[in-house]
Amino acid sequence: MELKIGIITVSDRSSRGERPDQSGPELTSAVRDQGWLPLKVRIVPDDLERIKETLIDWCDQENLDVILTTGGTGFSPRDVTPEATREVIDRQAPGLAEAMRAASLKITPHAMLSRAVVGIRKRTLIINFPGSPQAAKENFQVVAPVLPHAAELLREEESAESSHRKLQ
Ligand code: MTE
Repeated sequence: MELKIGIITVSDRSSRGERPDQSGPELTSAVRDQGWLPLKVRIVPDDLERIKETLIDWCDQENLDVILTTGGTGFSPRDVTPEATREVIDRQAPGLAEAMRAASLKITPHAMLSRAVVGIRKRTLIINFPGSPQAAKENFQVVAPVLPHAAELLREEESAESSHRKLQ
C-alpha cells in the first residue's frame, strides 16, 4: 500500500540554518525503505503558529495519509509541538503514543520525557516523534507496522475490514 507521507522537522536552529537537519532525512529514508512516498518535507521553527499552519495546510490541502513531526516534544519552554498538534486535531489516537513510549522505555528512561501526541485531523494521522535522529527512527519503527491499516480506515477503503487482524 502506497502511503502519502509528510515530514516536518521542528527546530529553531535547523530552521535558521545553524544546524543541519538530520532527523528529517533519517525519517525520509525510513519512509522510502517501507515503499511509501515522502511527498512533503519542511523545516519549521519551534513556533506554535508556524507548526499549526503547516499541519493545517498539509491535512486540508495535500491529501496526505500521515504527517510525521520530529522535535519539540520535550520539556524546554520552546518545545510546543504537542500543543500545536493538540490544537489542530479532531480526535486523539493515544494508543500509538502509548506504544511508542512503552517501546522507548525499554531503550532509555528518558522516553518518559517525550510529551508526543498522536491524533487525526480529517483523514490525516499526525504523529509526533522526539527530535534526535536516533529517537525519531526508533519511534518510527514502533508505529510503522500499523500505518497501512490506519490509512485504510481513514480513507474508508473496503479492504480495511479484511486487514483488521493481518498483523497477528
Ligand atoms: N525515545 C527513544 N526511542 N529514544 C530516545 O533516544 N530520547 C528521549 C525521549 N524519547 C529518546 C526517546 C529524550 S532524551 C527526550 S528529552 C524526549 O524524547 C523529547 O525529545 P525532543 O525534545 O527532542 O522532542
